[in-house]
Amino acid sequence: MIALTRRYEFPAAHLLVQPLLSDAENRRLYGKCANPNGHGHNYGVEVTVSGRVDSLSGRIAEPHTLDEIFDERVRARFAHRNLNDDPAFADRVPTAENIAQVIHDELAAAIGERTGARLVRVRVQETRRNSFVYGVMA
Ligand code: NI
Repeated sequence: MIALTRRYEFPAAHLLVQPLLSDAENRRLYGKCANPNGHGHNYGVEVTVSGRVDSLSGRIAEPHTLDEIFDERVRARFAHRNLNDDPAFADRVPTAENIAQVIHDELAAAIGERTGARLVRVRVQETRRNSFVYGVMA
């Protein structure tokens, strides 16, 4: 298998609160990430696609097409926003795990339709110590 990984960044704010839990339980579960005013991250996102290498171009997918899709589907929607306000997080906490899944689901169909490649993995780097992968792990 051959794969292409493209890396992006976008800044966004979030607040980790599970509405089904009490304030004390949220503080215990999420610590500082449950502080009421929220906080920001510069999210790093790696998008990995796999597919057949085109015999003419020698490529799996055109990187600029991936960039367009990312800008349209992720950056335009989430950058410089509060993720808690987005409908995608109306019924799930905007943890990096859930952010990775939402980004995957936003990108998958468009990548399949417009590049001929298949989205296999989205990795979200939230801090220098934490990153999260949704999709094929190996
Ligand atoms: Ni955070």
